[in-house]
Amino acid sequence: MAEATGFDLYTITDCPKDLHDFDVVVMAGSIHAGSVSIKEYVVANWPSLKDKKVIIILTSGTSNREVINKVVNDSFSSEIVNTSKVFPVGGRYMFNRMSFIDRSIIKLVAFFSKHPETKKGMLTEKEEMNRENLQEALDFLHG
Ligand SMILES: Cc1cc2nc3c(=O)[nH]c(=O)nc-3n(C[C@H](O)[C@H](O)[C@H](O)COP(=O)(O)O)c2cc1C
Repeated sequence: MAEATGFDLYTITDCPKDLHDFDVVVMAGSIHAGSVSIKEYVVANWPSLKDKKVIIILTSGTSNREVINKVVNDSFSSEIVNTSKVFPVGGRYMFNRMSFIDRSIIKLVAFFSKHPETKKGMLTEKEEMNRENLQEALDFLHG
């Protein structure tokens, strides 16, 4: 997104505290354990974000829109959901790129999962990171 837009790029820990100078804020996070990873940042900074064009790029293991919408609705207030624009962009789920702790938690939870589909989903790797998935968000930005 930063390459395609020329926007400044920050990590969530080094981004400016004062967002006053920004009209558009694009944030990127992932779904982790049924919650949006950048939830705390968005909620804490919502008073300064709410009058801007706010875009949330969201990676996830699932591509099921209903599941993603539920996670978004559970993570944010209706004001945040209705004012910002969330773009699910697929995700990357590769065991060799995860931390040892993440890998262990997933294997443990999958082991105890009673539903074969859930178990299979948790143990199936996927690689869906590509630039085309960002196009909808870029079109929205330029629109
Ligand atoms: C520990 C862990 C928990 C995850 N939990 C979920 C989940 O609840 N739902 C989901 O759709 N994807 C889940 N994922 C998949 C991630 O959203 C996906 O791998 C995403 O691409 C991660 O992006 P990131 O590496 O930028 O954090 C999980 C991944 C890990 C490693």
